[in-house]
Amino acid sequence: MEGDEARDLFGAQSHLYKHVFSFITSMSLKCVVQLGIPDIIDRHGQPITLPDLVTALQIHPAKTGNVHRLMRLMVHSGFFARKQVPKNHVEADEGEEEAYDLTPSSRLLLKDKVPSLSPFVVAMLDPAFAAPWQFLGNWFRGSEVTPFESAHGMGIWEYGEGNPEFNSLFNKAMASDSGMMNLVIRDCKPIFDGLSSLVDVGGGTGKVARILCDAFPQLKCTVLELPHVVADLPDGENLKFVGGDMFQVIPPADAVFLKLTLHALSDEECLKVLKKCREAIASNGQGKVIIIDIVINEEKDEHEITEAKLLFDLLMMVVVTGRERSEKDWKKLFLEAGFSSYKVTPIFGLRSLIEVFL
Ligand SMILES: C[S@@+](CC[C@H](N)C(=O)[O-])C[C@H]1O[C@@H](n2cnc3c(N)ncnc32)[C@H](O)[C@@H]1O
Repeated sequence: MEGDEARDLFGAQSHLYKHVFSFITSMSLKCVVQLGIPDIIDRHGQPITLPDLVTALQIHPAKTGNVHRLMRLMVHSGFFARKQVPKNHVEADEGEEEAYDLTPSSRLLLKDKVPSLSPFVVAMLDPAFAAPWQFLGNWFRGSEVTPFESAHGMGIWEYGEGNPEFNSLFNKAMASDSGMMNLVIRDCKPIFDGLSSLVDVGGGTGKVARILCDAFPQLKCTVLELPHVVADLPDGENLKFVGGDMFQVIPPADAVFLKLTLHALSDEECLKVLKKCREAIASNGQGKVIIIDIVINEEKDEHEITEAKLLFDLLMMVVVTGRERSEKDWKKLFLEAGFSSYKVTPIFGLRSLIEVFL
């Protein structure tokens, strides 16, 4: 074999193995969250040296020698940065040592800060979400609706109803994801101006509704959710929880809001819900549907953004019956559901805000 050919094959082997083992990065990230490493660094107030990190971790003495291995991978993956700091307990001019600092990604994992995506990391890497992937190959050949169903014998919402712990884990994950909306929601004022009522369909435990109520005090928000999700949630001043089924009835309002609700649905299910949305806003000639969801745009998006969107697409295939959609896919659904026009504003990072008009 020629040298170049062999080099290419070894390169291909590295590429293959990197992807075979990329779950190790995910699981190490979960471990970092469970050990509270971002919070330890934050509390330290400056980059933390390995000995100081090991002391703060309070782990088994036999494991201390492994912390730098975990951190090395996490630095490589961009979750921490290596910095040089003056050596501890000696004069500053006697040399420097290495320390770990937070990066923008690990700042998002600080447990007591807003927004914090720690609950999202922990929930999405829970064994209940990991198990369905073992069934993916067989699912393609079999008749089960989703690999989640192959793994758990039922769909995700039914599973949540019967497993309060999973239900709470999932709802906290979604609420933590929704906390990110706080960063830019005030920039969306023109979108919510003139609306006096809004119903958040599949609105979880009301995180987004609370953010909207705070940002736009004129707005009365209703959260329509599965009964087991909202059973014990108290209403607020401008906030009401309704247990129900979005396929049956959506309460009337000036606007219907759906964040990540439609990407969890098949096109057929999406159409049904969009038609119910149209009925809900029909009495207000100025009514609209506001969607926050992924729009796949492989031509325009950076490689890493597209990769994250495609990962979400397979997640939607494996845990529910949903999918991620291009603008063309969304447009087709809106027109089929009887809407006349729409406007996409790419404002929430991976997700866009889509206004859909009667
Ligand atoms: C992907 S989550 C999105 C949650 C929330 N909108 C957010 O972004 O944080 C989808 C939500 O739809 C809710 N859901 C599923 N089926 C529903 C139904 N038939 N009627 C009302 N809500 C439903 C689930 O309980 C879940 O909270």
